[in-house]
Amino acid sequence: MLHINEHYLKLQASYLFSDIAKRVAAFQDANPDMDIIKLGIGDVTRALPGACVAAFHKAVDEMATDAGFHGYGPEQGYAFLREAIAKHDFQARGADISADEIFVSDGAKCDTGNFQELFSTDARVAIPDPVYPVYLDTNVMAGRTGEFRDGRYEGVVYLDSTKENNYVPELPSEPVDLIYLCFPNNPTGSTITKEQLKTWVDYAREEKALILFDAAYEAFIRDDSLPHSIYEIEGAREVAVEFRSFSKNAGFTGTRCAYTVVPRECVAYDSQGNRQPIHPLWNRRHCTKFNGVSYPVQRAAEAVYSDEGKAQIRELVGYYLNNADLIAKAVGELGFEYVGGKNSPYIWIWGDRDSWEFFDLLLNKAGVVCTPGAGFGKCGQGYIRLSAFNSYENVARAMERIRQALA
Ligand code: MLT
Repeated sequence: MLHINEHYLKLQASYLFSDIAKRVAAFQDANPDMDIIKLGIGDVTRALPGACVAAFHKAVDEMATDAGFHGYGPEQGYAFLREAIAKHDFQARGADISADEIFVSDGAKCDTGNFQELFSTDARVAIPDPVYPVYLDTNVMAGRTGEFRDGRYEGVVYLDSTKENNYVPELPSEPVDLIYLCFPNNPTGSTITKEQLKTWVDYAREEKALILFDAAYEAFIRDDSLPHSIYEIEGAREVAVEFRSFSKNAGFTGTRCAYTVVPRECVAYDSQGNRQPIHPLWNRRHCTKFNGVSYPVQRAAEAVYSDEGKAQIRELVGYYLNNADLIAKAVGELGFEYVGGKNSPYIWIWGDRDSWEFFDLLLNKAGVVCTPGAGFGKCGQGYIRLSAFNSYENVARAMERIRQALA
């Protein structure tokens, strides 16, 4: 008899964003004439940058010739892309990362979800609350947690991100091995300073822990005193893996390209207490389970680093930041407390009522989709998240409708 992985039975019924999509579809069915404005999932809405499109087309044309055809590429990504990433995203900022430490993939969601596979099932995991649900759910699937009780999984060390700590969690009070951090943060939109991030790097070095640092929203940082990468912090090469994505900076949510940085110094320990480098293990996993991102997509991603591409991306991200500013001003005028909206596409709003109730109110009365904070964890209860990923016109209409709905 085949037995299932019972840890899957501990998971909450469905993935947050599928749950929301179902509710919105049901509402739309019942109200076919309603023009719904989506400020829920962080999915971009504007066209790919011209430089990426041109590179994409050119690569497709190459594929149409025998001479320019590309079959399986290197699983880790083509050298042209890995070198461009190392140079522009890290070395240009003084972070010592080389091309062979970069693993190109089809998404930061998959990478942040899969990376935990390298570690033992008894690893003690610290996960922020509220949090992007992927980190938690994949650890549940792997069997690193107990049951879900009273809004939390047993066995997880939760790192509360609340108004009291300005949405930057404090160091855990009990020992942990694997730490998830995300800045600029999803869902709160909060940022971390270099000094704060250094306390985490120092802690990880002291505890022989590893930080999984999700920097998918790095492009939204406009305050240059903030760290764009964890490798701007001394010592981070020994204790941190970083995840980046082309989804939010260059609009690749439907095109799929991301990368993970695994420095050669990062180690975990075997049962004899010997240091085992993580880089060859991730390489082994990547080669076994992944066949690389398509050649045209990698050429399109490479174009992000051309002068033209850089300027277009700055404009694209600036457009969404302008939306974020509009949302932040509007919710502030409505008297809500909020965080984010600067250096981030997300605005985290204290609704002072049940998150799902607020979600339903905005959907039913304003035809606006948000993300209920409770879906991101217990500390998210009472909050909603609004995303700046939509057209300026739609964001302006959404905020006006919310103003009327709450009047
Ligand atoms: C979100 O809305 O939290 C994320 O954008 C979803 C994702 O990137 O997978």
